[in-house]
Amino acid sequence: MNKIRSYIKGVGHNLPDRVVTNDELSKLMDTTDQWIVERTGIKERRFADEGVGPSDLAIPAVEDALQDANLSKDDIDLIIFATISSDYYIPGAGCILQHKMGFGNIGAFDIKTSCAGFIYGISMADQYIKSGTFDNILLVCSEVQSTTMDLSDRGRNTAVIFGDGAGAIVLSSTTEDRGILSTHLHSDGKNVKELWLKEPSTKSSNRLSKESIERGDHFLSMNGREVFRHAVKRFPETINESLEFNGLTSEDIDLLVPHQANLRISDMIQKKMGLPDNKVFNNIQKYGNTTAASIPICLSEAKKEGRINNNDLVVCAAFGAGFLWGSAVIKW
Ligand code: ACO
Repeated sequence: MNKIRSYIKGVGHNLPDRVVTNDELSKLMDTTDQWIVERTGIKERRFADEGVGPSDLAIPAVEDALQDANLSKDDIDLIIFATISSDYYIPGAGCILQHKMGFGNIGAFDIKTSCAGFIYGISMADQYIKSGTFDNILLVCSEVQSTTMDLSDRGRNTAVIFGDGAGAIVLSSTTEDRGILSTHLHSDGKNVKELWLKEPSTKSSNRLSKESIERGDHFLSMNGREVFRHAVKRFPETINESLEFNGLTSEDIDLLVPHQANLRISDMIQKKMGLPDNKVFNNIQKYGNTTAASIPICLSEAKKEGRINNNDLVVCAAFGAGFLWGSAVIKW
C-alpha cells in the first residue's frame, strides 16, 4: 500500500475592505508614496475595522478554503491557527474561531511563529496526517497588525510595511504521489530585539506601564536594515536546502511563493534563484506584509488566477521575527 501523504485540498483568503494608500499614511507621518514604493514596492495595504480581530478576518477565508476543498466543517479534525496578533492575550484565536464558526469540539491551538507561521503550521499539520492521526486539518493564518503600528513619525520605518489579512488551507490525506514533499524549519533567537513587540510583558509586574506606553513599547518595532540583511541570506539558503533535499533544482520550480516581506527582498531572492518573473508570485504591492497570512493569501490568489495547477511544483519560503525561517516543497 502507498504511504500516506498530505496535500493542499483547499485554499482561501480574505482581506478587509478598507484600503489604506501610501498617500493616506503620508498624512499621518513624515513619509511619501515615492519613498514607500522605492524601498518596499508597497502601494497600498488593508486595515481591519475597529473591533475586528484575526478570528473574524479568518471566517471568510476558512469558508473559501472549505468550499475549494469541497468539504464541510464536520470533516475537519483539527484547527491550527498561526498568528502573532491574536484577538486576546489569552486564550488563542484557534478556539475563538472554533466557537464562532460552530466547529465540533475538535482540537484547536495557536502557533506564534511570526512571518514563518504558514511554514511552521503546514509542517506540523503534515506530521499529524502522515502519522495517520488526522485526515483533514484546517491551517488558518490571520493577522491584524494595523493596531500594533505606531502611525506617527516615530514608527514610520515599520508602519508603512504591515497590513491585515487572512489565508487558510485544508490539508488532507492522500495515497497519491503528490502533496507536501518536505518542510524545513530554523530559528536564531539572538535576534529577538531586531523585530519585536515588547509589551505587555509577563516579565514586567506592571504588564504595561505609563513609561513603556510613552516609549511606544506596545508597538511593533523593527531594525529594518538588520532584518533585510538576514532575510536576503536566509531565504535563498532555505529554498536551496529544500530543493537539494528533494534532488531538485530551481529549474524544477513552477511557482516560488516567498513570504511577502518587502518587494526588494522578493526581487533579490528571484535574482539569486535565477527565476523568471512568471515563476515568482508577489502581491505585497496591494496588501503590504500580512505576516503569517501572506503565503496562503498568495497561494489562494495564484490558484484562482490559474497560476497553480495540479502537479505543479510550488516552493514556499518565509523569514520573520525571532528570527524564524523555513521552507516547504509542495507537489500540488
Ligand atoms: N518614509 C521616509 N523616510 C523614512 C521612512 C519612511 N517611511 N522610514 C525610514 N525613513 C528614513 C530613515 O529615517 C532614514 O533617514 P536618515 O538617513 O535621515 O536617518 C532613511 O529613511 C533610511 O532609513 P533606513 O531604515 O536605513 O532605510 P532602509 O533603506 O533600510 O529602508 C526599510 C527601510 C524599507 C524598512 C528596509 O530596511 C527594509 O525593507 N527592511 C526589511 C524590512 C522588512 O522587510 N521587514 C519585514 C520582513 S520580516 C517580517 O515579515 C516579519
